[in-house]
Amino acid sequence: MKICIIGTGYVGLVSGTCFSELGNNVICVDIDKNKIKKLNDGIIPIYEPGLEELVKRNYKQGRLNFSTNTSSSIKKSDIIFICVGTPTIKKTNQANLKYVFNVSRIIKNNLNKYKVIVMKSTVPVSTGDKIEKILNIKKNSNKYDVISNPEFLREGEAIRDFLYPDRVIVGTNTKKPNKIMKNLYLPIIKKRNRYFHTSRRGAELIKYASNGFLATKISFINEISNLSEKINVDIKDIAIGMGLDERIGGRFLRAGPGYGGSCFPKDTRALVKTGDKFKTNLSIIKTVIKSNDNRYKLLLNKICRILSYKVKNKKICFLGVTFKAGTDDMRDSPSLKIIPSLIKKGANINYYDPSGPKSDFKNKKINFYPKLKDACFKSDLLVIHTEWNEFKQLNFKNLVKKQNFKIFDMRNLYDQSKMKKNKLNYFSIGR
Ligand code: UGA
Repeated sequence: MKICIIGTGYVGLVSGTCFSELGNNVICVDIDKNKIKKLNDGIIPIYEPGLEELVKRNYKQGRLNFSTNTSSSIKKSDIIFICVGTPTIKKTNQANLKYVFNVSRIIKNNLNKYKVIVMKSTVPVSTGDKIEKILNIKKNSNKYDVISNPEFLREGEAIRDFLYPDRVIVGTNTKKPNKIMKNLYLPIIKKRNRYFHTSRRGAELIKYASNGFLATKISFINEISNLSEKINVDIKDIAIGMGLDERIGGRFLRAGPGYGGSCFPKDTRALVKTGDKFKTNLSIIKTVIKSNDNRYKLLLNKICRILSYKVKNKKICFLGVTFKAGTDDMRDSPSLKIIPSLIKKGANINYYDPSGPKSDFKNKKINFYPKLKDACFKSDLLVIHTEWNEFKQLNFKNLVKKQNFKIFDMRNLYDQSKMKKNKLNYFSIGR
């Protein structure tokens, strides 16, 4: 099939590349000339394991192309995926649909034959209706269907999530585009019966409800971890014990510094907004947002407690600053709140991150080290903020080389009893 992907960000680039890997002809379009030039030169603008190899292979074989010419790319294609950003408008809970509507207007002017217009970016329920309204002019009659096909890719696992999905959700209000989409996804759904068809609004809501539910699971276990800390039990045991019940499931029950990233914080807020629009009080999601927003304060307090409330001039080293492992993404990372608060209290911060230095930290008292051991050397406190594999078996005494240093493991990567045996001052979450 001939596919045009509009918006070559995270979702667009991964989806376009994977569709080309499945044998389709794909043009990935972006208005950012620099990005498209880089992609044509074989430079991948994001960090995603396995992506570079797939891009290069399919580009070489001519199935994957990059262009800044949106109009001609639309004309050449049968299926158009809208993958542009939908950031939250500052100081509101609302998703900004400016880019989605701009793209819809370009599509409207380039409908030279029947096309399926697929909304892949996460958009509030009823956005499909609005796109349809934009396209709906006389000369375009019967030349399009607007459908919803939300993405469920996790950063760092995106290729696997795309090629081996738990489910493919397609929302259409007519039969024809459903047939086309089923055919498109056939190579990855035929082994496992994971294709689910519903209405367009239904698919739009499945996406938000899924992210809202996962965010709830995380906030739930985080609050239970606050309690288990007080009553002297191990949150890991609680999560395992709960997860053994198949109705609950063990995944997404890891207590930690709170959820971050480009999806959960944005989508939970947009879900509340959708509830408001349709006069429905989504009180659970509202509470989840509050609970997650406050989490960093709890962890900050714990750091102060670990340092006996003497934070000034203490050397604190962060191991990982991104919102999770396997990505260079800093969006809504808990470290963005915790580190500046520690600086305000007079601490000096070193950090090491396998994905490199971050421009988010501009303060002179925050220093990146390209080597883990240089970052940790002579620290008063190590904070394991992100669960990168390379942090899972460290020889802390060799790294720090200082008496009485402390470790705060925000991801519960280590066995408490072993740490005690090794006479390390070890603190973790909910244990
Ligand atoms: C999330 C969803 O998992 C994807 O299915 C979805 O497609 C994507 O959002 C999106 O809407 O585009 P992602 O944001 O990449 O994917 O990251 P997750 O792996 O879901 O982690 C989100 C946050 O929750 C991270 O901060 C992570 O550290 C935290 N988390 C996750 C926990 O604290 N505990 C857990 O048990 C799991």
